Amino acid sequence: MGKKLRRAAYSVAAVAVAGAIGYTALVQYGLHKSYPPTVQLSSGDALKEQIKRGEYVSRLSDCTACHTAEGGQPFAGGYTLKTPFGDILSSNITSDPKTGIGNWTQEQFDRAVRHGIGSHGYLYAAMPYNAYAKLTDQDLADLWAYIKTIPPVDNEVVENQLPFPFNQRWTLAGWNLLFFKDQVFKPQPTASEQFNRGAYLVDGPGHCASCHTAKNLLGGDSSAYLQGGALQGWYAADLTSNPHSGLGKWSEEDIVSYLRSGTNKITASSGPMTEAIENSTQYMTDEDLKAIAQYLKSIPASDKPIPTPLSSENTAMITGKKVYESQCGACHVSNGTGVRNMIPSLAGNPQVNSPNASSLINVVLNGTEGPLTHTNPTAAGMPEFAQKLSDSNIADVMTYIRNSWGNSAEPVSASQIGKARKELQAQPWQGDSMHVVK
Ligand code: HEC
Ligand code: HEC
Ligand code: HEC
Repeated sequence: MGKKLRRAAYSVAAVAVAGAIGYTALVQYGLHKSYPPTVQLSSGDALKEQIKRGEYVSRLSDCTACHTAEGGQPFAGGYTLKTPFGDILSSNITSDPKTGIGNWTQEQFDRAVRHGIGSHGYLYAAMPYNAYAKLTDQDLADLWAYIKTIPPVDNEVVENQLPFPFNQRWTLAGWNLLFFKDQVFKPQPTASEQFNRGAYLVDGPGHCASCHTAKNLLGGDSSAYLQGGALQGWYAADLTSNPHSGLGKWSEEDIVSYLRSGTNKITASSGPMTEAIENSTQYMTDEDLKAIAQYLKSIPASDKPIPTPLSSENTAMITGKKVYESQCGACHVSNGTGVRNMIPSLAGNPQVNSPNASSLINVVLNGTEGPLTHTNPTAAGMPEFAQKLSDSNIADVMTYIRNSWGNSAEPVSASQIGKARKELQAQPWQGDSMHVVK
């Protein structure tokens, strides 16, 4: 090795060592930073009030959704979150001293919920601390008062089930450096109180962006704020004012009705949004729902291009129409308008016009039960068509509903349906070629 080259190699090594020392310092600093509480727990009757407020904060934040496994005890953890990197299980956050957080202090709770550091070190962002960072000191203290009252459940959870290198928690210090804004909510001084409350609910406890904002390759939020995001076979819709695939044509009342009951005059919720409505948004006060609606309506429209609708002479459209008339029209009506507050309208429905058809494909293959809420206790369901229709017939009927009655969106292919059938573990088609609509 020549002298020059060796010197270059040394300095590269020196930089790497300095970088590693700096990084280790950063990791250690993050892990040991203190967060002394500024709002203390109350006592007596005031504590009872505080616990009640905390229960509401827990509803707003939907802590139960992830911290309760299917058929498991509330808050005892063990619910599996599938990420593109592998599985992460939620922690037991009951007051059990051994397997839960019964021995924790308020400061430890704050460190986990708002700053992303738990009992094993840095937390994965599957726990939405990047949104909860915005919680006010008061809400955080109230929430702690409530969580402390959760009865103990002995349930040991191994949260981190990721493969190497993703299972290395210290690497998350780097993730935080890139994507985590550790900052409490700051109201806009010129905006109304209602607007600021809406922004707080959406970006803080409601953590709407964790599903509705597309992620980059490292799982951080992209800059396309609330413009729609793909997740586990669903598509969390565009919530901006885009008039075609977003909420541009929804009134504030349409948004309130959807978040309260799961339905409105246009659509009905399904999949992960039904869970969010059933566990969280249906419990929000009218004022809070109105605040969210006002805030969402203020978000400028995404600039997704609107495709030209396919001609009704297109072969997929001709077949799709026949499938629609024989299988779907009885409920969704021949002009696609459905039955108000019972069967969604497919005409002018932002999800039907969405560039990503995952949610539609999911609903048609597997069917859906419909949201069950206080205001809508007997929601109608959508039957499953996986066994009844071939891949190409499903693709054509999707293409047809996406390009009729004023709708326009990319056609759906038979191979997309075949792929979704596997990924969603839908039933195989039970028919034979005699039953294919041509
Ligand atoms: C979207 C799912 C999700 C939601 C919603 C959620 N959590 Fe979590 N939470 C997780 C996961 C997953 C973990 C484990 C992460 C890890 O080990 O890195 C976790 C970890 C935690 C921990 C750390 C426990 C420990 O032992 O380190 C606490 C405390 C916690 N959550 C409290 C809450 C509270 C309070 C709420 C509501 C304000 C909440 N979580 C909402 C998924 C969620
Ligand atoms: C766990 C993921 C998740 C979270 C968290 C979530 N959403 Fe959704 N949301 C979805 C999915 C998926 C859909 C599409 C459902 C469908 O097609 O029926 C959706 C649909 C919607 C729709 C209907 C849009 C349309 O065009 O049909 C609205 C409005 C909405 N969400 C608002 C919110 C708000 C406000 C929040 C935060 C308080 C939120 N969502 C949090 C996943 C989520
Ligand atoms: C028995 C009545 C019935 C039939 C038949 C039916 N649907 Fe549905 N469909 C519903 C109901 C009810 C919902 C709302 C389910 C929910 O609450 O999530 C729905 C939801 C949908 C959605 C989701 C709409 C949204 O706003 O997210 C799509 C897309 C859809 N149906 C397409 C079809 C297609 C295509 C067919 C024919 C292959 C069909 N439906 C047949 C009753 C029906």
